[in-house]
Amino acid sequence: MDKKGPVKGSDMGELTVWRDAAIGVKNDTVVWIGSSEEASILEASQIIDAKGRLVTPGLVEPHTHLVFGGSREKEMALKQQGVPYLEILQQGGGILSTVRATQNTPYDELLEKALFHLDRMAMHGITTVEAKSGYGLNRETELKQLQVAKEANEQHPLDIVSTFLGAHAIPPEYKDDPEAFLDEMCELFDEIKEENLAEFVDIFTETGVFSVPQSRKYLLKAKEKGFGLKIHADEIDPLGGTELAVELGAISGDHLAVTSDEGIQKLANSNTIGVILPGTSFYLGKDDYGRAREMIDAGAAIAISTDFNPGSSVTENLQLIMSIAALKLKLSPEEIWHAVTVNAAHAIGRGNVAGSIAIGRKADIVMWDAPNYLYIPYHYGVNHTNTVIKNGQVIYERQTNR
Ligand code: NIG
Ligand code: FE
Repeated sequence: MDKKGPVKGSDMGELTVWRDAAIGVKNDTVVWIGSSEEASILEASQIIDAKGRLVTPGLVEPHTHLVFGGSREKEMALKQQGVPYLEILQQGGGILSTVRATQNTPYDELLEKALFHLDRMAMHGITTVEAKSGYGLNRETELKQLQVAKEANEQHPLDIVSTFLGAHAIPPEYKDDPEAFLDEMCELFDEIKEENLAEFVDIFTETGVFSVPQSRKYLLKAKEKGFGLKIHADEIDPLGGTELAVELGAISGDHLAVTSDEGIQKLANSNTIGVILPGTSFYLGKDDYGRAREMIDAGAAIAISTDFNPGSSVTENLQLIMSIAALKLKLSPEEIWHAVTVNAAHAIGRGNVAGSIAIGRKADIVMWDAPNYLYIPYHYGVNHTNTVIKNGQVIYERQTNR
């Protein structure tokens, strides 16, 4: 997997695979690639024998809501009774209940919790992860979440790419004036930039949350301040968020479960990456898993992600999402591997450092208990990692050696 990417359209179906390969790593960087036979005459201070296992780039997770307080297991019963996601939100639950919990959770506790979830992501083969704020909805707590993500990045071996999602829901006190709330969030842009707390700005464009015109105005202000743009678009209702992502030159449009035909065409003709979240469709009990198949067929670049969060997709296991992408989005294994490595890296501005194994790149490498790359989406719901290497260091090893 050595493509520079983003890998678009039918190229997503062409995977570079080496057999009997060896990789040379010096410090944190890949410095040599060849055959095992060629490697056998080289000197190395440490040799890790993959013993015929599949070896791939570390997975890149391009969309998570990593930092949050509390949990929402009690909402599961409401969902079973058929109460829709957006109605739970309208009643002050859903995102808003996590907002209350996050506001009330001290910084250190949020940090511990984030580190715990990062450990679990690492164990599942993820080596780079995007993390959004958005459970503060006020200055203090949004900044607290972003600080937690920054400190987690410093403390944890995984690399974290931070996104400001202050525009994630309308707080109850702004129910009748969402624009005033967006203005308040805009006021944080300078501080976030100066303190290097986020690279991207994101918004939830959805019925009952923020409209397309409101989102356009907000994202344009973010762009002026030098942020890259992301957008939670066309998740439940097809409002035209995909088209907006393309219009504004967003680095990614995320969800895109119900994108229009026109939106698919525009995406295919753009540099915006479609980040598809089929685990969210599964977890919300939706019939629409996203139109990734049509997007790739039209020529777009697609990434996939867990959308890890306490409400609409509660899993750190990107391997499970790879299986859902195979079964429900009808993506091929080759497309899926590109979607969780090189394209995911491009969706978070890390296309030059993460998502592929090539000389000069960081040594982010996973050794899998699997005979080939088809195997991971096929054998679903469990963790297949054997050894996870981040920046040249082993950060996870399966304990028994059976
Ligand atoms: O990406 N759609 C909006 N936001 C999140 C869900 C957040 C939550 O339910 O807590 C998402 O699905
Ligand atoms: Fe999300």
